[in-house]
Amino acid sequence: MLKVAVLVSGGGTNLQAIIDANIPNVKIELVISSKPNVYALERAKQHDIESKVISKRDFTTQLEYENAMIKILEEKEIGLIVLAGFMTILSTHFVKMFERKIINVHPSLIPSFCGDGFYGLKVHEAALKKGVKVTGATVHYVNEITDGGEIILQKAVDVLEGDTPETLQKRVMEQAEWDILPRAIAQICNGL
Ligand code: GAR
Repeated sequence: MLKVAVLVSGGGTNLQAIIDANIPNVKIELVISSKPNVYALERAKQHDIESKVISKRDFTTQLEYENAMIKILEEKEIGLIVLAGFMTILSTHFVKMFERKIINVHPSLIPSFCGDGFYGLKVHEAALKKGVKVTGATVHYVNEITDGGEIILQKAVDVLEGDTPETLQKRVMEQAEWDILPRAIAQICNGL
């Protein structure tokens, strides 16, 4: 059984997609939220998944913050860490501890509209500003470069006339993210 921790910061629709996929030989052992009172925590509760809020603000340094996360991830013997709308950048220290054991879903076709400052709706705003006709989502391994790790899966989504950042975000989630994130987890689990 692959024990997975899902790290979230918001609504948790990608967490929901992983829950709903019921991936064979995968157990969501833990949800860690960087913020209290987010709907992702409610989703965890509804499905009897243990959750913890670990917020950077409660620690003096990035190292102390990350060590608190490392402690619980090791205690729970987590084999795969999934960043699903997790809005905190992790240091090289953290990333090196879990080499090829952290994946992230990003709402564009990397290498477009990614890297520092590109998260959430900002990604879709940038895509619309550029006037691209196709965008999508990417699941990739996490390394020390923001959105720079090896690509696992990508899926393209059409940009439609009249799209707003919100309508485009919704289409990218529905057509790409919620499909490729559970598939990537299954693929990694099968490869182990
Ligand atoms: C998703 O669109 C995810 O790809 C994006 O935040 C949203 C979270 O939604 N992540 C990033 O932009 C990371 N750079 P969710 O909380 O409903 O899953």
